Amino acid sequence: MTDVLVGQDLARHYAVGGGLFQRGGVLKALDGISFTLAAQRTLAVVGESGSGKSTLARLVTLIEEPTYGGLFINGIDAVDPAKENRRAMRRAIQMVFQDPYGSLNPRKKVGTILEEPLVINTDLGAEEREDKARAMMAKVGLRPEHYGRYPHMFSGGQRQRIAIARALMLNPEILVADEPVSALDVSVQAQVLNMMMDLQEEFRLAYVFISHDLSVVRHIADEVLVLYLGRPVEQGPKERLFERPLHPYTRGLLASTPSVDPKQRSRRSLIKGEMPSPLKPPPGCAFHSRCPHATDICTTQRPHLRPLEGRDVACHHAERIG
Ligand SMILES: Nc1ncnc2c1ncn2[C@@H]1O[C@H](COP(=O)(O)OP(=O)(O)OP(=O)(O)O)[C@@H](O)[C@H]1O
Ligand code: SF4
Ligand SMILES: [Mg+2]
Repeated sequence: MTDVLVGQDLARHYAVGGGLFQRGGVLKALDGISFTLAAQRTLAVVGESGSGKSTLARLVTLIEEPTYGGLFINGIDAVDPAKENRRAMRRAIQMVFQDPYGSLNPRKKVGTILEEPLVINTDLGAEEREDKARAMMAKVGLRPEHYGRYPHMFSGGQRQRIAIARALMLNPEILVADEPVSALDVSVQAQVLNMMMDLQEEFRLAYVFISHDLSVVRHIADEVLVLYLGRPVEQGPKERLFERPLHPYTRGLLASTPSVDPKQRSRRSLIKGEMPSPLKPPPGCAFHSRCPHATDICTTQRPHLRPLEGRDVACHHAERIG
């Protein structure tokens, strides 16, 4: 299997604050993220709000440059690409956002929205563009008469279908979806997710699927990357992480997820306390202020990601906890 997307020790730091009498700080929105995504597979990125998920999405879609680290799209250096490669890379990786209302231009009709990428990136004629747009509409479950309608005439789920169709117009290899179903009703979520899984097969897509909802991730992921305050805490195959999570944070996230087993059902977050400020992360293990297993070493020494039981985990006591 070929790796279509590779991240190597990716970081994104922001200079924040600071004024006349005040020194600014550095906010490490992401720090030390590595992953590989094979063709037609799904990497799910999970973590609480502020953990760096969208920042990672902006890096891999080339919206922002990493502060350091390597990024390869289809084997091509995406951080410092040769000029002739930029276009091909931007085509290869496309993005769908959480908000299906904000991401579509309200003044343009669906047909125009779908054909726009073709106008910019191909030399297809108007007729061919329309044919392609209509074909894609059918693939995402839109009806022919929707071609001439405006985004406000659609439901949230339909708008997300339009956004997905637009993202697929240039035949990308990779689709980055940042909370694509979080804004939708639960019943609609399942429809859109199932459609995404069908499209993945049909168009041989690799997904970077960002979600804070592990019940959604359980459905769609192959690999899972769990972030806490911008760092990886546990990553590996979905089965491993869901069956036997080794990091206390992963365990907490899973325990807060509604289970199919009604006896275990609970929506209550089992992770105590608030996430610390990313501007002042705790020393040692950044999770220690909230971790029920923390010991002295956790407050002074940062645990590095290390292989254990078929995944990587960053916890001093992972053996004991597992
Ligand atoms: N342009 C920026 N300047 C300064 N800080 C930023 C910037 N963009 C993001 N951050 C900070 O980086 C951290 C990670 O943000 P990010 O949006 O990636 O989190 P997230 O996991 O997507 O959260 P959510 O689930 O709420 O979408 C946050 O602390 C955020 O405030
Ligand atoms: S290193 Fe310590 S504080 Fe961090 S997750 Fe493991 S046990 Fe908890
Ligand atoms: Mg986000």
